Order: sequence, then structure tokens, then C-alpha cells
Amino acid sequence: MFLVTGATGNVGSEVMQALRLAGAPVRALVRAPDDLPVEQVVGDLDRPDSLAAALAGVRGVFLLPGYRDMAGVTAELAKAGVERVVLLSSQAAVATDTANPISAFMIASEAAVRGSGLAWTILRPAAFMSNTFRWLPQLGQGDLVRDAFGDVPIASIDPADIAAVTAKALLEPGHEGRAYSLTGPEALLPADRLRILGRALGRRLRFQALTEEEAWVQMSATTPTEYVKAFFSFYRDRTIDETTLHPTVEQVTGRPPRTFDQWATTHAWRFQNVTS
Ligand SMILES: NC(=O)c1ccc[n+]([C@@H]2O[C@H](COP(=O)([O-])OP(=O)(O)OC[C@H]3O[C@@H](n4cnc5c(N)ncnc54)[C@H](OP(=O)(O)O)[C@@H]3O)[C@@H](O)[C@H]2O)c1
Repeated sequence: MFLVTGATGNVGSEVMQALRLAGAPVRALVRAPDDLPVEQVVGDLDRPDSLAAALAGVRGVFLLPGYRDMAGVTAELAKAGVERVVLLSSQAAVATDTANPISAFMIASEAAVRGSGLAWTILRPAAFMSNTFRWLPQLGQGDLVRDAFGDVPIASIDPADIAAVTAKALLEPGHEGRAYSLTGPEALLPADRLRILGRALGRRLRFQALTEEEAWVQMSATTPTEYVKAFFSFYRDRTIDETTLHPTVEQVTGRPPRTFDQWATTHAWRFQNVTS
């Protein structure tokens, strides 16, 4: 049995599908039962003592990062007899300035997994293509998208590729003790991604970069200040490298990473539903 955390989310849902396609038995850890095609067990990653039922009989776990007591979580995994864990981390864990809370929680999560005694694989993806869903409200209003850091090219990755690597790491030997940097096949500016999305939607979409001041205000509306500062450190001061391409997806899965065009085509229906 394999336990997938975050199975209602962008990456966990793809991991659940990838494991099912590979014929592996899958259980989802959920905070509340949802409409999922697999067995669900309720638990909370912020409460390691709530995980025992979900972990019963589990061999491998796909684990999200950043919860209150990650060492407590991995201790529960070990106690339950789990053999291997794949941790979703981030390029933030290897940023050049790691003195920010996003890097700190990724690094702490990696340390917990490394110290767990389990066979581990750490995944350090660049930003996700699914972050594009953040444009949904603006695209429901019109054809203009205004966003921060318009001059930063990112080799963003399709969560389906993170899932494909996860399935290999959980189901096949040879990935233990490895930390994989994962990117998509090309570094694109936000304006490039919007143009590609527009083509998939049959809409002429326009991008406008926010000024630094506007970006700070927009991000602060939904994000605590210390995280806004972290994003400014990553993308304005360029302390994170999500531009360099890594060949890891192809090396692990045997096929190239999916393009943003493929992601946009697959997920176009989500954007069409908000279009008036
Ligand atoms: N976005 C990026 O570019 C990026 C890049 C690198 C790494 N990451 C990391 O990747 C993680 C996953 O990203 P995503 O886009 O898949 O996230 P997402 O779509 O927001 O999904 C988050 C998932 O976590 C679950 N969850 C939240 N709190 C939980 C808790 N206390 N206990 C158990 N489950 C909990 C949610 O379940 P519910 O249904 O209960 O809410 C949901 O299934 C992020 O949180 C981030 O740490 C993100």
C-alpha cells in the first residue's frame, strides 16, 4: 500500500493517478473525505499523532513538506514500518540565500526525512505550471493578466512530471538517497506562458508586469509579509535558480518533461469554465 498526502492538490492528485496507472494500491491521507477514486483515511500532517490509521500497512509514502513537526511525521512513518518516502521539496532548499522562511521549511523537511532512517528520495522541483491557476480570477474578468516578476524566466514543471518521478522512486529501486532537481523543458517568461495559454483557449491574452510596489501590495493581500519578502528575495534578487534546465525527468522516467503547451491544453477546461 502507498499513502499519498495532498491527494486533493495539484501534485498529490497526479501522484495518486500515476501510482494507480502503475497498478499500485493507493490510499489518500485527507483532512476531510473528498470525491477521490481511492481509499481515504483522515489525518492531519500538522498532528503526527493523527497519522497511525492512515499508515497501517503502508510501504511507501509521498510526503508534502512544511508541516509543524516534520521529524514527528517521519517518526510516525518509521514506527508504522514504512520502507520508503518521497518528499516534495523545492529549489528553495538550495537557494543562494536560505535565510527565509520558505527555504527554512523546505530544509527542515529535508532534514527530517534524511534523519528518519527510511529510504528517502527528495524532489526539488522548480515552480509548478499549475501556479497558472492563480490567473483564473483575472481571466474571468477579461484578457489582461497583471502579475509580479515579469522579467523572470522559469523552467516550470508540470505536476504530472513530479508524479511520474515519484512513482518511479516509490516503485523501483535505485532512487534511494537521491535529491532530484526537476524542471520542465524550457524557461519561459510569464508573458510567454500567457501567450501559450491564450492559444490553447483561443483567446488573445495580454500580460502586464506589475511594478515592485504593485507586486508587494498584490501579494500582501493574500500572503504573510515574511513570505512576500521570501518571494522578492527569490525572484527580484534572484536567489533561486529556476531557469537552469535539469535533465532529471527524462533520466528517471525515460521521456522528456511535458511542455507548458501540453499543460495548458490539458487544463484549458478549467479556464474555459470561468470565461463569460
Ligand atoms: N507551487 C509551487 O510552485 C511549489 C514549488 C515547489 C514546492 N511546492 C510545495 O508543493 C506543495 C504542494 O503543492 P500543490 O500545488 O500540490 O498544493 P495544493 O494544490 O494547494 O494542495 C495542498 C494539499 O495539501 C493538503 N493539506 C494541506 N494542509 C494539510 C494538513 N495539515 N494535513 C494534511 N494535508 C494537508 C490539502 O488537502 P485539503 O484538501 O485538506 O486542503 C491539499 O491536498 C506546496 O504546499 C509547497 O510546499 C510548491
